[in-house]
Amino acid sequence: MQTLPNVVVLTGAGISAESGIQTFRAADGLWENYPVEDVATPEGFERNPQLVQEFYNARRRKLFDPAVQPNAAHLALVQLEQALGKYFLLVTQNIDNLHERAGSKNLIHMHGDLFTVRCSWSGKEYPWQGDITEQDRCDCCSPPRRLRPHIVWFGEMPLEMSRISTALADCDYFISIGTSGNVYPAAGFVQEANLAGAETIELNLEPSLTRSRFKQAHYGKATQIVPQFVNEFLAQLKG
Ligand code: NAD
Ligand code: APR
Repeated sequence: MQTLPNVVVLTGAGISAESGIQTFRAADGLWENYPVEDVATPEGFERNPQLVQEFYNARRRKLFDPAVQPNAAHLALVQLEQALGKYFLLVTQNIDNLHERAGSKNLIHMHGDLFTVRCSWSGKEYPWQGDITEQDRCDCCSPPRRLRPHIVWFGEMPLEMSRISTALADCDYFISIGTSGNVYPAAGFVQEANLAGAETIELNLEPSLTRSRFKQAHYGKATQIVPQFVNEFLAQLKG
């Protein structure tokens, strides 16, 4: 029986753009209206917790908009996972839930997610669907502590890094989709995959900052180029 290749996929804001979720760094991007240090740093949260909670509450609410649905690129990655099973790992920098809504299973949210909150003191995580208010407190501490978004802010450590590094060290293909390559450590994954001898592929609207590190690149909208790439990849596997 043919052995399947190990595939690691990294996604960023670009994969959700055509589902109606703004990216971070586009001209109309998410950070445009807010200084990033106000809404995406632990110091910003200390200074003005209400502003930070409201920023993420608004982003969570957006995910209940019926117009916001997983798109063809999210769905193509489910098809890829179904073909590869345990040989597939999806790592996303996105904090939306569109990959899981599409049906992805083996998924790491390395920058956290909007549907979990955690105790700002102990780190205990709680599932969360609605707005977080300044009145909301944990049930794990005495006295109860403030809850915070389960989001990795600048200066904080991304999640599950050791599992990601292990997968990269053993991958045959690394596919980066819809990410600008501005933010480390995610922007360095391509080098880890290159060191592992993997074929490294960038799928993005335009060349990212780390373009020169990829062995292959395809540019266009994610809803077009991702399904196309996945179809060709699966055809090659069968052939
Ligand atoms: P980093 O490499 O992520 O950031 C480098 C520097 O660039 C930082 O000082 C940051 O403030 C700045 N920067 C990045 N984008 C900017 C923008 N659009 N406008 C102005 N400044 C910008 O290093 P770090 O600070 O150590 O971040 C640690 C981790 O936190 C990273 O992995 C990052 O992805 C994560 N993070 C997640 C979120 C989120 O909302 N999910 C937000 C911020 C950071
Ligand atoms: N199809 C494919 N790519 C697209 C599309 C699209 N329809 N629309 C935009 N893109 C590309 C852009 O060209 C850009 O290169 O997606 C990329 C989005 O880049 P960013 O907005 O910088 O988002 P991302 O790379 O995910 O940001 C990384 O930075 O702010 C932090 O933690 C936050 O997870 C985030 C991280």
